[in-house]
Amino acid sequence: MSTTVKVGVVGAGRVGAVLSAALRAAGHDVVAAAGESDASRRRIADLLPGVPVAKPSDVARSCDLLLLTVPDDSLHNVVSVLAAAGALRPGQLVVHTSGCHGLSVLAPAAEVGARTVALHPAMTFTGTSRDLPRLRGCVFGVTAPEAERATAESLVADLGGNATWVAEEHRTLYHAGLAHGANHLVTVVTEAMEMLRAAGGDDPASTLRPLLQAALDNALRSGDAALTGPIVRGDVETVSAHLTDISAHAPQALGSYVALARATLARVLTDGRQLPIRAQRITRALDAAAQRVRPGTTQEIR
Ligand SMILES: NC(=O)c1ccc[n+]([C@@H]2O[C@H](COP(=O)([O-])OP(=O)(O)OC[C@H]3O[C@@H](n4cnc5c(N)ncnc54)[C@H](OP(=O)(O)O)[C@@H]3O)[C@@H](O)[C@H]2O)c1
Repeated sequence: MSTTVKVGVVGAGRVGAVLSAALRAAGHDVVAAAGESDASRRRIADLLPGVPVAKPSDVARSCDLLLLTVPDDSLHNVVSVLAAAGALRPGQLVVHTSGCHGLSVLAPAAEVGARTVALHPAMTFTGTSRDLPRLRGCVFGVTAPEAERATAESLVADLGGNATWVAEEHRTLYHAGLAHGANHLVTVVTEAMEMLRAAGGDDPASTLRPLLQAALDNALRSGDAALTGPIVRGDVETVSAHLTDISAHAPQALGSYVALARATLARVLTDGRQLPIRAQRITRALDAAAQRVRPGTTQEIR
């Protein structure tokens, strides 16, 4: 934003403390921060030295740009309480960073005349200074009324990122896509490391890193066309052998291996890279393994 803005943050969690520090570095004036826990107080001391700690309503009254960086499930309650307390005012910019919420959660602020923006950094945060350089080039999923688009864009630019527009009605799907990609990736990678460790590897991360980086890069570039491995090749016996050894040595991963193998198989069948006859044989092997997974878990029945 072209002028210096008075910024307030409720609360100084992993995201709030880091984004406020980034706005401060961009020349804005962080006037107050709210956060009760020791962790939030520590983040304020580390990332926002000299910024006074205040209760949420005082933070809201003291600023022109209010960052609401509270847990998703608390957001509606926090904005309602601030609006009911008369802590929000017409023309004030009220911004949240939730991925799954759009503008409707900020309706109590809009009703008193505040300008509202949903601005979600598509990034994972530690709440430390390590996050600051990662904001450069980070994409922010933004939902904003037409009149606030230029402001939102310039706020994202001040944070070092790039905006992508997300329609209000697609906010949850947008967030589900990010969670599926980033959160479930963590589970898959962790299970892969457990298998390599069970296979005697003393540094599974180093073994996986070049392979996974190449696979991720190829998938982001080419989607399904990046797929290699036994399912697309139709190596039924290899898949069966995997299932046997995972059952024996890494049973905690059997359920997710079967589920992801089924999803992979469905995709190569649909796009014609796998013959139905081979796909049926793989499906039979997966069905047999799935019988051994305890319902409601990914674990094998012993
Ligand atoms: N973490 C990520 O990687 C990430 C990435 C992108 C977007 N986001 C989004 O950013 C938002 C914040 O997430 P986060 O991970 O930073 O959360 P967090 O680390 O758990 O921090 C939440 C902050 O909100 C405060 N808070 C909690 N309940 C409150 C309430 N009822 N009233 C006032 N303050 C309250 C907490 O204060 P106390 O410490 O005193 O309890 C804390 O300062 C969420 O919408 C999340 O979806 C998170």
